[in-house]
Amino acid sequence: MEKPFILHMLTTAKNLSPFDVNMALDAGWVSAVPYINVEPSEVQGLVQDAIFSRSQKGLKRTGIFIGGRDTKQAMDMLRTAKNSMVPPFEVSVFADPSGAFTTAAGMVAATERELQNKFNTSLEGKNILALGGTGPVGQAAAVISAKAGANVRIIGRQLEKAQRIADLCNVEFGNNEINVQAGADADKEEYMKTADAVYATGAAGIQLLNAAQVAAAPQLKVAADVNAVPPSGIAGLDAFHDGTPIEGSNSGAVGIGALAIGNIKYQAQNRLLTKMIDTDKPVYLHFEHAFEVARDYIKEQA
Ligand SMILES: NC(=O)c1ccc[n+]([C@@H]2O[C@H](COP(=O)([O-])OP(=O)(O)OC[C@H]3O[C@@H](n4cnc5c(N)ncnc54)[C@H](OP(=O)(O)O)[C@@H]3O)[C@@H](O)[C@H]2O)c1
Repeated sequence: MEKPFILHMLTTAKNLSPFDVNMALDAGWVSAVPYINVEPSEVQGLVQDAIFSRSQKGLKRTGIFIGGRDTKQAMDMLRTAKNSMVPPFEVSVFADPSGAFTTAAGMVAATERELQNKFNTSLEGKNILALGGTGPVGQAAAVISAKAGANVRIIGRQLEKAQRIADLCNVEFGNNEINVQAGADADKEEYMKTADAVYATGAAGIQLLNAAQVAAAPQLKVAADVNAVPPSGIAGLDAFHDGTPIEGSNSGAVGIGALAIGNIKYQAQNRLLTKMIDTDKPVYLHFEHAFEVARDYIKEQA
């Protein structure tokens, strides 16, 4: 009898995300086993417990998912998990804390598509503001965009916190090869004068850009909003917008709403969970791989 596909799902939080459990089973994993309140120091033990009970063939049907809320912690846990493998006892691992890596990947890939299709340009050299960008989704979106060549500024209510998060992005996720900057929400109208794109990545149900601020932006091309809870994160945007002109934008900006982004996020997460099943060689997946598969999905739709 073939061994069942088992995904060991680790989270530092009190509960595993039901969204992630559904995604795992829908992608073909047969059993999604939750490990909650996991301490990062327990990762090595859990990983080694999982790998030694199965043969090579069984290990191909075994995987590890890392959730939680904290992006740095999840990346550290992914690294620990990888370093805990004892080849040939090795399994694939995928980190997507708070769904942030796949959500950010979907948003950035959709923004890139709109820049290309509507403005015949790319992310390279574009000024992008990640409003409310200090959370997991904003951080991941900032890093993915900066790696694609954009000038990104994370905006938060407190400059010190935004600066701390920008530093984290540059050092931890960007290997000091990117330069994500920080800004205070109080100064955002100044930053909007040169913004080509904005991401609304604040907490659910918070509007971060009002209609007057959208209207006054002289070179805004794309506005993307991941918040599905009314009011929208950016005035004039609808959750269903998908490259739709934003009413009231004097620069002709188009909007991408939360449901359109959610669709690409779904595809990216599904593809990475499926890749863990299909691969012959163990893979270690995070925001960069999420962006690759989100881009692939968008290309296939063109
Ligand atoms: N569409 C999808 O598929 C999808 C998937 C996952 C998540 N999401 C959405 O993505 C968004 C971001 O998620 P997240 O987990 O990264 O967010 P989060 O950590 O909950 O919040 C992000 C930032 O919002 C700011 N914020 C919080 N309360 C605020 C308030 N009252 N006024 C202004 N700013 C406030 C905070 O920044 P400062 O303290 O620095 O100001 C916080 O760091 C959420 O809306 C979530 O629902 C969408």
